[in-house]
Amino acid sequence: MSDNYSLIIKNGSCYIGGKFQNTDIALSRSKIKKIGKISLNNAKVIDASGKIVLPGVIDTQVHFREPGANDAENLESGSRAAIAGGVTSVFEMPNTNPPTSTFREFKNKLTAAKNRMFCNYAFYFGATPDNMKELSSVNTLEGCCGIKLFAGSSTGNLLVSQEKDIEKVISNSSKIISVHSEDENILLSRKKFIKEGDVTSHPVWRNEECALESTKRVVRLAQKYKKKIHILHVTTKQEIDFFSEKRDGVTFEITPQHLTLFAPDCYEKLKTLSQMNPPLRSKDHYERLWDAVEQSLVSTIGSDHAPHTKEEKNRKYPLSPSGMPGVQTLLPVMLDHVNNGKLKIEQLIKLVCENPCDLFGIKNKGYIKESYDADLTIVDMNKEVVIKDDWIESKCGWTPFNNYKVKGFPVATIVNGEIVMENSKIISHAKGKPLNF
Ligand code: DOR
Repeated sequence: MSDNYSLIIKNGSCYIGGKFQNTDIALSRSKIKKIGKISLNNAKVIDASGKIVLPGVIDTQVHFREPGANDAENLESGSRAAIAGGVTSVFEMPNTNPPTSTFREFKNKLTAAKNRMFCNYAFYFGATPDNMKELSSVNTLEGCCGIKLFAGSSTGNLLVSQEKDIEKVISNSSKIISVHSEDENILLSRKKFIKEGDVTSHPVWRNEECALESTKRVVRLAQKYKKKIHILHVTTKQEIDFFSEKRDGVTFEITPQHLTLFAPDCYEKLKTLSQMNPPLRSKDHYERLWDAVEQSLVSTIGSDHAPHTKEEKNRKYPLSPSGMPGVQTLLPVMLDHVNNGKLKIEQLIKLVCENPCDLFGIKNKGYIKESYDADLTIVDMNKEVVIKDDWIESKCGWTPFNNYKVKGFPVATIVNGEIVMENSKIISHAKGKPLNF
């Protein structure tokens, strides 16, 4: 019978049930309707011969800056960058101005996202020392992926630095807590290591101890209260050693930047453009992070897309802000690592499709299955591209990977059953929806 499919993906090598198979996928509106040989009807067809079809890629850490720093990004431009890079859903961060740490601000963000975001989305709820009532009921909030706890200060003023407050936040949380894990007291005591005009002092100031001490503390507190905790952008070999012992309820994330760039080269080449928190570190840390990927210790790869204008980034260190864009380059950079044999494509799919859904409880995504949501990323593993600033959709208009050559590139992004990006062109309107948990 010729069903009323809306889109047929023909002849792709599709990742289904843990392996690749050459088959067709028929979509009906926003759902995957049928997997198998599909006879053509009058539905639109996308030819995926020679390409691989992945479940839609999820970036579990982006900062789209709205409300607040809209000169660097907003929900619209950030989500355009997402789909241009093959990302179908994002978790967006609360360190905006004002921060997303009240129900009113959370609701405002959902309202601002409606009909303006090109990918699907969920928002983090920001923890403060005073919003326990809200934290204990965020599990009822539509579109909320979890609680974000800044244990060390970064961009914006969201911060819970004292142990008694961190304990209050963790014990009152009603959803997974994702942590920016740097110890604020250590950060303050080490400010003397900041050398004006010298960004190479950034990882000296925000050293391994800042990260490790904070991580040990939040893990201890999470285990005391039997809460789920996810440590964001882990950067040190000491933390990987710590995580190599099994710790129930504890997971962590690494960024593509920390798996690609390292000191001192990154600071020589990119100067303050490569300044971020926690910092890019030396090669021994980078290598240990790759061990964590190889041994499947790490659960997710999130880009920590943190756009700032070039003008701000070019200020004299430490007046230059921390953070760099990444949502659009996450997949190309990681596919290049797959082609270079650093990880298997199956591992990457776990990190950016399956685990985000399993860990955060996103419904109906992360796998190519009949009746699941039709979010898909089509990739050409042989396509070679030199990434350039002028490809960047983000309002900030630059990438730390300018002139970086990759092999493996997203050629189409499908969100809610519609092709939204094809061959680097955005071809849809903003129809993203909140994720369901
Ligand atoms: O470098 C960073 N910049 N790290 C963070 O965690 C926050 C981010 C930002 O929002 O700019």
